[in-house]
Amino acid sequence: MFSGKVRAYTNIALIKYWGKENQELIIPMNNSLSLTLDAFYTETQVLFSKDLTEDQFYLDNQLQDSKATLKVSRFLDLARKKADCTLYATVRSQNFVPTAAGLASSASGLAALAGAASAALKLDLSSEELSRLARRGSGSACRSIYGGFSEWQKGTSDETSYAVGIASDGFEDQLSMIFVVVNDAQKDISSRDGMQRTVETSAFYGGWLQTVPQDLAKARKAIAEKDFIALGEVTEASALKMHGTTLAATPPFTYWSAESMKAMNLVRQIRNDGLPCYFTMDAGPNVKILVERKNEEALLNALRDQFDAQQVVVAHTGPAIEILSEEEA
Ligand code: ADP
Ligand code: DP6
Ligand code: CO
Repeated sequence: MFSGKVRAYTNIALIKYWGKENQELIIPMNNSLSLTLDAFYTETQVLFSKDLTEDQFYLDNQLQDSKATLKVSRFLDLARKKADCTLYATVRSQNFVPTAAGLASSASGLAALAGAASAALKLDLSSEELSRLARRGSGSACRSIYGGFSEWQKGTSDETSYAVGIASDGFEDQLSMIFVVVNDAQKDISSRDGMQRTVETSAFYGGWLQTVPQDLAKARKAIAEKDFIALGEVTEASALKMHGTTLAATPPFTYWSAESMKAMNLVRQIRNDGLPCYFTMDAGPNVKILVERKNEEALLNALRDQFDAQQVVVAHTGPAIEILSEEEA
């Protein structure tokens, strides 16, 4: 028996990944840039055993159906192939993040699965190799290998598409991300389906791609210069452009709800009142607010008037993927 257990944290993109050039290999259309967070994470154990006749997948202590298990099996096949291993596995995963609600469970979940499988199989991967493997499970997962800021360099092939960490001289520790959880139920349109529909049908998709390089350049410069306002402005702009593309898809759709609008309007109002803060949104209705840590308390006070305390979650910059155990019995 070989087992590995890891913890991987979620990340939220400041410059979004939205669209694939290659569906099977998960090569993206554009680079993306993210911040790994401490408040939401996944712990996954993978145990390969001679006694099993098929893979088993438990998520939050519930045995999963054949469809969910097949996704995990297909991913494990990639790790098994690297190790020349033919054993089946039991996967036990705990999400300390709502699953499929636009809070990046696929980022922490698939990074944890990649890390646990490679620890169990003693693949001894470099961060770049682990990032490449995690990418095959979910694109955003390739950024969760790193703590702090990370950029997924889209590359042109399986070998060249992976994320790298971005050194930021402690700037990441001056930041907070406040989550306004307006709905933690599973979304109707997965990130995967939403972005594919957009690439294939949205008249605005070309416009999205056009401005990503300049937004990335602005974000990298803002990080290098520890310029919070510049980083916040480009973060908000990237999210709005990404969400704009879905409105022009066929059939059209949006991840926004009335509560999302309420949170975004409140952020604008708080900003106009003099507190610098900026929102971003992913494939779901929840709103994330980037703020300087020194202004975190003031922002929370302003949010408390409009949202219940349990809807508001404070996150700070999170660490890289962590190995919790590696055993052979
Ligand atoms: P999210 O916004 O939460 O990332 P996605 O639509 O991108 O939503 O992905 C959700 C999917 O990610 C789930 O349906 C499941 O297939 C996968 N997933 C989430 N958590 C885990 C986990 N801990 N282990 C394996 N797969 C997971
Ligand atoms: C809007 O990584 O969840 O959150 O690669 O198909 O698994 P798949 O999609 P996923 O997409 C994330 C989209 C996003 C933006 C981002 O995280 O960069
Ligand atoms: Co996801």
